[in-house]
Amino acid sequence: MSHDVSLIALIAVGFVLAFLLGFLAHRLRLPPLVGYLIGGVVMGRLIPGFAAESGLAGQLAEIGVMLLMFGVGLHFSAGDLMAVRRIAIPGAIGQILIATMIGTCMAKFWGWSLGAGLVLGLSLSVASTVVLLKALEDRNAVATPNGRIAIGWLIVEDLVMVVTLVLLPALAEVLGGRSSAASNPAGGNLGLLANLGLTLLKVTSFVALVLLVGPRVMPWLLRQVARTGSRELFTLCVLAVALGIAFASARLFGVSFALGAFFAGVVLSESDLSHKAAANSMPLQDAFAVLFFVSVGMLFDPSILIARPLMVVGVLLLILVGKSFAALAIVLLMGYPASTALTVSAALAQIGEFSFILGGLGVAYGLLPTEGLSLILAGALLSISLNAVVFAGTDVLIRWIENVSWLRTRLERRDAGPFIRLEEDLDAARIALEAKAAAHKTYSADELVERFRLFAGLTPEQRETVALHFQPRSAQPGERIIRVGDKADMVYFISDGEVEVVVNGHKIKMGPGDFFGEMALLSGQPRSADVTALDFCKFLTLDQRDFRELLRRYPGIRIPIAGVAKERGETNRQFMEQPHERTAES
Ligand code: CMP
Repeated sequence: MSHDVSLIALIAVGFVLAFLLGFLAHRLRLPPLVGYLIGGVVMGRLIPGFAAESGLAGQLAEIGVMLLMFGVGLHFSAGDLMAVRRIAIPGAIGQILIATMIGTCMAKFWGWSLGAGLVLGLSLSVASTVVLLKALEDRNAVATPNGRIAIGWLIVEDLVMVVTLVLLPALAEVLGGRSSAASNPAGGNLGLLANLGLTLLKVTSFVALVLLVGPRVMPWLLRQVARTGSRELFTLCVLAVALGIAFASARLFGVSFALGAFFAGVVLSESDLSHKAAANSMPLQDAFAVLFFVSVGMLFDPSILIARPLMVVGVLLLILVGKSFAALAIVLLMGYPASTALTVSAALAQIGEFSFILGGLGVAYGLLPTEGLSLILAGALLSISLNAVVFAGTDVLIRWIENVSWLRTRLERRDAGPFIRLEEDLDAARIALEAKAAAHKTYSADELVERFRLFAGLTPEQRETVALHFQPRSAQPGERIIRVGDKADMVYFISDGEVEVVVNGHKIKMGPGDFFGEMALLSGQPRSADVTALDFCKFLTLDQRDFRELLRRYPGIRIPIAGVAKERGETNRQFMEQPHERTAES
């Protein structure tokens, strides 16, 4: 099979099997993820020829991880994370420490090295954000306080894992694995501290560069591209930013693809177009995420279930029981209600993408025996399959606690200080987010048409493009917005408040839905009248270039605007002939 054809075969067979088994899993009330993983197992084990392509599958999986992490970054709200930080940060770190300790002890018991134990423990300690988001979405719980705590907790875990991924190569030799120089010839032969320092320096400079430059450049870039009105270019821009930053960061700074992509997402999430970016990149994210799970399945060797059943059970118990109890205890000790503790525990009772990546890296650096990776894969496969059952079990427990009064008064204290404070913080975060959105309030396509009927004749795509060109502006009562004789720079659409136009002593009032400032832009002459705000006004403005561009592109708005300007010009000629003070309503 030539190489090109095998890539096509891999993707085609991967999609077909993932679809069939994902659908079957859904029918059996299991998460489709389980179907994708088993699809991969079938491909790797039962269909000849594909096992040899695991390198290729690995690369597809890597793209999947990049896009997944990009998605996580895109949905990441720094405000939400700050609101849940008091529980998420100590909770996640404490739980990772406990789970890693248990994992290391378990590995020691099996006779593995310390390094192997640490890698195994760390891999098992982190849960999959993707699996959690899917579980919360199914239960309509993404926006609830408990849901947000669980997401915040997992994001902290993800960040800890990213740091671990970056540090592992530098630490590999000390932990008894191959040195990073052996696996990565560019690494050189530096001492451990120098290596660590260099790694941290690279990561910090990358993060600083992305976070300082990104929010200034990226939202601007997205806006410019969105204004072209080409959906294709917009999607391309989003993908170019995601994969471009991820790849460049890996090349230039030695930072993992996953970290780069995550920060690309964070940077784009600052833009008010982040929803559009998320929506446009979603199909690709989904597709490659499926390939990720398929390729993980391909790597899985089911014989481990027969050869090492006790080890598999140990791993599974650590994921389902050890981690969950650690989290349960931490959350309850911190004074949160039992329902919060149980939701977080259920959220954590699975492992996913980061576990595979970390396990894979551990094997590459000679820390983890290949058997370890198989165990991790078995643990993931089983725990993801069981996650829905775990969530259902916690529901039963929560209901039971609520029905038994002494348990309820002891454990389900929603009026407890920490929970109340957290709810207040979450509310504050939402208000801050809304205030930020209101400050940059640009109209959505629907709002635009509702306010300005002028745009009703445009297609939905055209309306969206037009909406992107407006800049918000406001004026205080009495403020002179346009002075007669001035050079024209922009046109104003009134969204709130009233203005007064004065032409040769004649006064005309205008309010929401009206526009002004178009005459001079159309004629190239100076402004024809004074325009003053009568109360606090809000406008949507278009600058000269955008105004001309939109009129040129969309005759549906050029014709009515030109008609209004012509009418106004005629009225003004009459006003010029009769310079009396008079008021007309426009
Ligand atoms: P422009 O000449 O650019 O700047 C002043 C604006 O006042 C003008 O565009 C129109 O939008 C508005 N204007 C001028 N004359 C009238 C009128 N007779 N009725 C309503 N608006 C007017």
